[in-house]
Amino acid sequence: MDSNKRPDTMERITTPELANAFIDEQVAAVKAQVGDKKVLLALSGGVDSSVVAALLIKAIGKQLVCVHVNHGLMRKGESEQVIEVFQNQLDANLIYIDATDRFLDLLAGVDAPEKKRKIIGGEFIKVFDEEASKLEGISFLAQGTIYPDILESDGVKAHHNVGGLPEDMQFELVEPVKLLYKDEVRVVGKALGLPAEMVDRQPFPGPGLGVRCLGAITRDRLNALREADAILREEFDIAGLNQTVWQYFIAVPDMKSVGVRNDKRYEGWPAIIRAVNTTDAMSATIEEIPYALLHKITARITAEVEGINRVLYDLTPKPVGTIEWE
Ligand code: XMP
Repeated sequence: MDSNKRPDTMERITTPELANAFIDEQVAAVKAQVGDKKVLLALSGGVDSSVVAALLIKAIGKQLVCVHVNHGLMRKGESEQVIEVFQNQLDANLIYIDATDRFLDLLAGVDAPEKKRKIIGGEFIKVFDEEASKLEGISFLAQGTIYPDILESDGVKAHHNVGGLPEDMQFELVEPVKLLYKDEVRVVGKALGLPAEMVDRQPFPGPGLGVRCLGAITRDRLNALREADAILREEFDIAGLNQTVWQYFIAVPDMKSVGVRNDKRYEGWPAIIRAVNTTDAMSATIEEIPYALLHKITARITAEVEGINRVLYDLTPKPVGTIEWE
């Protein structure tokens, strides 16, 4: 039987009961596969790798070694949440690497989007590889491959994602959710006790804020973007839009306009709000955000975020605009 083919008889996991049955089955399967050997996992904090981590912690506890690489392009609070949930709450064997300087130094002055992606993806593999080579006795590599990855990209985890792993790593793979669709992975994650904000997260590109800090990334503009994005997410949470809007974020272009604060003119960047609905990311429509909320977000971002003096709302559907700006 092809282990990469979902059997026609496999029931869709929609309830906690079905999720628990799946978890029991996979815990047994992982134990049988791994025995007393060690397993390595790149834990980004995204839905898929988080669910795999929680499942493997349940199956093999400290035999799992999670490596979280902070590339400095995470959203506000994301790496902290990975540490809180996996190290503090689930007592995981977690190695945290703050590689912010490495990434930002390499990216300095680079403004071409695909070049930025290449640098981020390449450096991620390097950092992960270096860390893996320091560890002894690792026999397996766990991955958060899900069924659409198998169907759409020959089993390569999110082919244009950062988080792709070194191709020459000589480990046997452990892929406990590879036959599940995304909605099923979320149900399993909840049954494993992961927090809703982790399991229901909107999609986040592998290169992270790197493709939203448009053009050549600078630390001050990246910080402004991160703070403005956190305000947008907070306000969407309060308004309940996090439940209905597929993807929403801020982009900050590398340009300034004149503003006025405390009777003084000064230059600042605009923050661009993008909020789209889609089912497959191939096309997207624009969410109608209530004006009162747009005003509130504008007031907060311009008052609270150093360097931002305008807020714009991108009304362009896909096509013609892509979801990300670069
Ligand atoms: P676009 O901008 O192409 O985005 O309309 C479609 C979806 O893909 C995500 N995206 C990426 N995801 N690495 C990723 O992992 C990338 O380089 C990348 N670029 C875009 C985007 O966030 C949206 O969900």
